[in-house]
Amino acid sequence: MKSTLKIDSSKRVGAIDRRIYGSFIEHLGRAVYNGIYEPTHKSADDKGFRGDVLKLINELNVPIVRYPGGNFVSGYNWEDGIGDKSKRPRKLDLAWFTVETNEVGIDEFQEWAKRANTDVMMAVNLGTRGADSARELIEYCNADTDTYFANLRRKNGFDKPFGFKLWCLGNEMDGWWQICHKTAEEYAREATETAKVLKWVDPSIELVACGSSDHNMPTFGTWERTVLDHTYDYIDYLSLHCYYGNYNGTADFLARAEDMDRFIKEIVDICDEVKAQKNSNKQINLSFDEWNVWYRTKDEEKSAERWQIAPHLLEEKYNFEDALLVGCMLSTLQNNCDRVKIGCIAQLVNVIAPIMTENGGDAWKQTIFYPYMYASLYGNGEVLKADTESDSYKSKEGWDIPYLYTSIIDNKDREELIVFATNRSLDEDMELDISLDGYEGYKLVNHIELYNDSLEATNEKNCESVFPTEREISANAPISLKKHSWNMLTFKK
Ligand code: AHR
Repeated sequence: MKSTLKIDSSKRVGAIDRRIYGSFIEHLGRAVYNGIYEPTHKSADDKGFRGDVLKLINELNVPIVRYPGGNFVSGYNWEDGIGDKSKRPRKLDLAWFTVETNEVGIDEFQEWAKRANTDVMMAVNLGTRGADSARELIEYCNADTDTYFANLRRKNGFDKPFGFKLWCLGNEMDGWWQICHKTAEEYAREATETAKVLKWVDPSIELVACGSSDHNMPTFGTWERTVLDHTYDYIDYLSLHCYYGNYNGTADFLARAEDMDRFIKEIVDICDEVKAQKNSNKQINLSFDEWNVWYRTKDEEKSAERWQIAPHLLEEKYNFEDALLVGCMLSTLQNNCDRVKIGCIAQLVNVIAPIMTENGGDAWKQTIFYPYMYASLYGNGEVLKADTESDSYKSKEGWDIPYLYTSIIDNKDREELIVFATNRSLDEDMELDISLDGYEGYKLVNHIELYNDSLEATNEKNCESVFPTEREISANAPISLKKHSWNMLTFKK
């Protein structure tokens, strides 16, 4: 099969905000306990954080991590997780039907974030709580005043404010499963008042309001309009979440990247429609703060034994085809970089994650680790419009899906042009003809390929079946993309 890609330096989408390569750690299963934190582990540091896990996270160069939830945050009392550890209460977590020991809280997490070279994206509880606890939380985290909560932070050993810059106004409040789920109107009012007080305490912060928790939510569209109508003047971003699964075969699964693209564009249209209605000069951008493949372990908490501490929950074992879709979804985020400024692959360790650990044992990379790592390390700069010609197939919903899926990034700092390219054909290799306009003297200098004969191949402890390889480059031969492969091509002078 032959495909073409025309790259023209004058056709630009916009600059990538590195925060699209963010991730997420929730108090869920073994994400925190025995994930990032395991004081008895042989690699644990002075604060009990696993060094082997930190090393893998540092390889990913994660710019922000959303915390502490997720569904968990809608029942979370942040004061339970600060100060003397021996006095912290154990509580029932009604989001995942587990017991939360509160051994790790905000004090520890901000410490961990420093060691992971990342920023914290803090979420406030708009389920069981509201503006009152949110204003106290931000005083604790960000205020430098001689006042009760700022002094409490000092008493707990943190003289300088944590200075969290990005805050989420609750989590998935449109979902019936949320602790204290709300109607759009109820949420919009609470979010508006909470946004006001948060910004009154710290005007330098940015705020994310909850949009739809899935493209298929029955309230999709009306939820966004109502929330924007109320919160428009106070927020900076609207969130969106999506998780995909292979329910109808691989071809249809890989076509989900286009669903993600439509989801983004529909929300952008809604944001701009509300902007026009309000005659506002302010643009609302998007925070795609939960996205990934997740289906094998959905609803697992319903059948798991209740009230365990750090049980094995949502430990999706990713295979090679999952890595292909994750690669395509990263391209979708990049191609929408003019409006998507934040993205969080959900999650980071053990729970639907690129990194897996064994209690007291090893840590290793799941298949999806690799496209995420390459995007984060090399996908920086300005995105160019992809002008492609490729054969296509029909998705189950009847959309035309080109076999070739790409994103192109002009990395000025490194003087490199990066092309991420996935061949979604399940049985044919692809000959890719790339033409460059405005990149005199640039030629292909590197071709990284992620490929496995088996779409079901997984990575296990001590045995990686899915890992990147460097293809040999021949000046005269055309670029060849293997059937069902993800690739990163580097062009340089
Ligand atoms: O990431 C797992 C869960 O998925 C999150 O807690 C929730 O926000 C979403 O439904």
